[in-house]
Amino acid sequence: MLPMKIDAGVLGTGFYVPDRVLTNHDLEKMVDTSDAWIVERTGIHERRLAPDKTPVSELAFQAAQRALADAGTSPEELDLIILATLTADCVCPSAACVLQDRLGAKRAAAFDLSAACSGFVYASSVAAQFIATGTYRRVLVIGAETLSKYVNWEDRNTCVLFGDGAGAAVYGPVEEGYGIRAFDLGSDGSGADLLGIPASGSRHMITEEIIRKRLNRIHMSGREVFRFAVRVMPATLLRSLERAGLGPADIDWFIPHQANIRIIQAAAKRLAIPPEKFIINIGKYGNVSAASIPMALAEAAGDGRFRKGDIVALAGFGAGLTWASCIMKWAKED
Ligand code: ACO
Repeated sequence: MLPMKIDAGVLGTGFYVPDRVLTNHDLEKMVDTSDAWIVERTGIHERRLAPDKTPVSELAFQAAQRALADAGTSPEELDLIILATLTADCVCPSAACVLQDRLGAKRAAAFDLSAACSGFVYASSVAAQFIATGTYRRVLVIGAETLSKYVNWEDRNTCVLFGDGAGAAVYGPVEEGYGIRAFDLGSDGSGADLLGIPASGSRHMITEEIIRKRLNRIHMSGREVFRFAVRVMPATLLRSLERAGLGPADIDWFIPHQANIRIIQAAAKRLAIPPEKFIINIGKYGNVSAASIPMALAEAAGDGRFRKGDIVALAGFGAGLTWASCIMKWAKED
């Protein structure tokens, strides 16, 4: 584990979703599906879609502004910006640099982090390293996605699942014994083909054939990813808890990656965590990949659900394959 010298915790949070709502009933008109199937098999009722010309950096900007205001931090105070996304504005430059300029965060270093749905927890652990060593005092971490731009709207297996949005947190030094207590990160690239956007980088140049085969859109082996998720989410959380010297019964709030309500229910059963401790917003937003955990975190923090000293657990899994979890002792005053 980290030889943490300075404890790093959340100073403020914020989230943003675009206005346009796509309901399951809207999808019934687009593909052979039904509201009943989607709700029963996934727990999703509706999702948000960004306008065609809105890049992910814009969603990130809106969420970041709210997190900075909540933390009482000005953009000029930021030392580092980490933007977790798999739908960056372009391959180069990073969306984090676009965001850095948009915010006017003149002193900040900035980079994108690619770990799919585990991205926010990966990025939070990176922020904690810089703060623990005293290198940086203010790190802005964002999870933001515009997955709707990569969905194949003719594929009912995937188009019902994903949505757009952004969640952000400002991290900084907190009172000793509070903030991030432990984390667990992992990967298994042997599962790379199970989930991804095959023609979105240097492997395949975009050709007419690529477009015809929809290889520039999301492809997923749903059942295999489901099995992986049910296995890995409890396993990573238990490792983080053990490193923090805690057990499942110590958790006050659990924020899982919001991919499918049945995955969350399976994890709840395996860990024996009561349902009222789960923070779940999949019904409203669908799977927003790297944005799902910080959106739920910001929504719950904004509702005033957390008390200082609460144990808040985060756990994600996704393309890569990747997984990540983190245990925090909530440091912010009520
Ligand atoms: N509407 C109606 N029927 C559908 C739909 C739909 N939208 N989608 C699939 N079906 C059909 C299938 O075609 C299949 O029909 P068949 O038996 O005639 O072939 C049937 O429903 C059952 O299909 P399954 O794939 O077994 O359905 P399942 O219950 O597994 O649910 C789902 C599919 C929701 C995709 C599920 O497997 C799942 O959630 N997987 C995990 C996805 C995930 O967690 N991704 C996270 C990572 S995201 C990231 O990193 C970006």
